[in-house]
Amino acid sequence: MTIFVTGGAGFIGSNFILDWLGQSGEPVVNIDNLTYAGNLQSLSSIENHPGYHFVQTDIANQNTISQLLIQHRPRAIINFAAESHVDRSIHGPASFIQTNVLGTFSLLECVRDYWNTLAGTDKSNFRFLHISTDEVYGSLLPEEPAFTESSCYRPNSPYSASKAASDHLVRAWHHTYGLPVLTTNCGNNYGPRQFPEKLIPLVILNALAGMPLPIYGDGLQIRDWLYVGDHCAAIATVLDKGIPGQTYNIGGGNEKTNLDVVQAICDVLDEIRPRAGGQSYHRQIAFVADRPGHDRRYAINGTKIAQELGWHPQETFTTGLQKTIQWYLNNSDWVQGVQNGSYRDWMALHYGHHKHNGGRA
Ligand code: NAD
Ligand code: DAU
Repeated sequence: MTIFVTGGAGFIGSNFILDWLGQSGEPVVNIDNLTYAGNLQSLSSIENHPGYHFVQTDIANQNTISQLLIQHRPRAIINFAAESHVDRSIHGPASFIQTNVLGTFSLLECVRDYWNTLAGTDKSNFRFLHISTDEVYGSLLPEEPAFTESSCYRPNSPYSASKAASDHLVRAWHHTYGLPVLTTNCGNNYGPRQFPEKLIPLVILNALAGMPLPIYGDGLQIRDWLYVGDHCAAIATVLDKGIPGQTYNIGGGNEKTNLDVVQAICDVLDEIRPRAGGQSYHRQIAFVADRPGHDRRYAINGTKIAQELGWHPQETFTTGLQKTIQWYLNNSDWVQGVQNGSYRDWMALHYGHHKHNGGRA
């Protein structure tokens, strides 16, 4: 059997493919159009793996997607492909609507056509697993309980509105057409191979470079942090045991203020990579202007996936952060490639020339 992964050259998708091929060995077709966030260097260790196949295309390219479905006959599709950065969505929402809303719609239509050609258990066992976010539920007050699967959708940013729209499309394709879909909504991921526009890798790399560690507003906004390896295990569990039509919240059980997160990074670096001159990394912390419409607090109630599917996170924030920082310290080639754009040359060398939108860390 084969599975399709869309957006597999991004942060979570690349971690998922590496874990999946390492653990199950079931072949994977990675469909990714390689935006600024797509980085095949993250997957260089498996580029010659017999079970790994990469196709550079947009999820909205119906001809290619339909051909790939006929050619590989996957038993499941996991849709990671998206524009994922809230700040970018504020300054340029169009690509978020294009990929997250129209791209998901287009993919659903191709998959529905393919699924309708299946019969028997091939049809009933097929799964479309859509990866979404806790941001669709909006912002919590300090005294409010954590998000559950029945919390109202109240997206506040162009990014979260586009993800909410995609979740609704996925839901409708189940209720209207019977497509066996699953949706997961998780909190902030962190770990190896995350593009350094997101808080944790940005702070690690700025700290090491002696640059300011920017904290938006008062830094007391709260996020619920999930180690990417735990997230990947949860996705595999939902694919295996989830009930079609259901949604599952995935949380790491780590509510932290942004200031706490940045200080924790400084503490680890002070211990394992002290600054020359003996001063603490904490001195680099800099409070800057707030993000427009900045959500104050996200928190996930993970009871459903724990009780119904038996999944629990394995990492604490302390162990996950240690692993993450160590990975960035040990992988300076990957970091330099992302920061100076040389991974584009690497991809051109291995995969031929291609178009991209020129984004840079
Ligand atoms: P990312 O930005 O690192 O990677 C996205 C990948 O999708 C890239 O490889 C990019 O090239 C690809 N892509 C973008 N548009 C595409 C298109 N039109 N066609 C094909 N490929 C396309 O994102 P990530 O952080 O790995 O997030 C993956 C998914 O998980 C997204 O759907 C995101 O909304 C969701 N999510 C992320 C987090 C998080 O903390 N990172 C948390 C919750 C949910
Ligand atoms: O909650 C899940 C979401 O988490 C995902 O759906 C998104 O794809 C993912 O990008 C992430 O969104 P955030 O906006 O929470 O992530 P980001 O890393 O951009 O910011 C985390 C918090 O840190 C947020 O409150 C903004 C703040 N921040 C961020 C940056 C980049 C800063 O204070 N300074 C910064 O420089």
